[in-house]
Amino acid sequence: MCIKSPADLEKLKIIGSIVRKALDVTAAAVRPGITTAELDRIGDRVLVENGAEASPPKVYNFPGALCISVNDEAIHGIPGERVIRAGDLVKLDLVAEKDGYFADAAVTVCVGEVSATAAALARCAESAFRQAAKVARAGNRINEIGRAVEKETRRCGFQVMRAFCGHGVGSAIHEAPQVLNYHDPGFQAKLTEGLVITIEPIIAAGKGKGVLQRDRWTIRTADGSLAAHYEHTLVITKGEPVLVTAD
Ligand code: CO
Repeated sequence: MCIKSPADLEKLKIIGSIVRKALDVTAAAVRPGITTAELDRIGDRVLVENGAEASPPKVYNFPGALCISVNDEAIHGIPGERVIRAGDLVKLDLVAEKDGYFADAAVTVCVGEVSATAAALARCAESAFRQAAKVARAGNRINEIGRAVEKETRRCGFQVMRAFCGHGVGSAIHEAPQVLNYHDPGFQAKLTEGLVITIEPIIAAGKGKGVLQRDRWTIRTADGSLAAHYEHTLVITKGEPVLVTAD
């Protein structure tokens, strides 16, 4: 969507702060011994208590409120009986709606002591986001975001999972434009003031190719390497973007 009024921005910020809160509460609950289904219920309860609704089950019939992906699972992991263990790398991805406004965010949680690679990968997903947010301003080409994400990811020694990307959001779960995590020189569209998008580096320690699992939702790395994900919903301005899913 494109923000057209202060009321638009206010409503987007409301759902943004609810998504933040639900993610933070869920992330704080991640510990060895808890199942991904229990984490899902914890996050969903925060949404419901705040009058919001998880979007993937409603819009796509996804079997859970949050997408919870562990280790070599990158995105769209289904909450279930899987038990979290020390050393796991857990991705929590949450998109929810209130009053017709949608916000989307994701975080990677390191459970206890993780490998040096896992810790570096989680840090890199966030730093790739930060680098991309710096070039996310009105007048710049959308593909500058992808250039920044890929540059930072490679600097860290990792690879972008190219098949997955950010997107427009705000009045629906997924809207135009696509916000690629690499530079596509043929994509010349520019960012405009008020545009609401996600920036979401989805990166891997290995080659970055993803495969769909037999559950028809979970995307896992083809080579079994670890994956990380970091995401905010943001509003494009002439200056720094407004991160509606940040504190
Ligand atoms: Co998203």
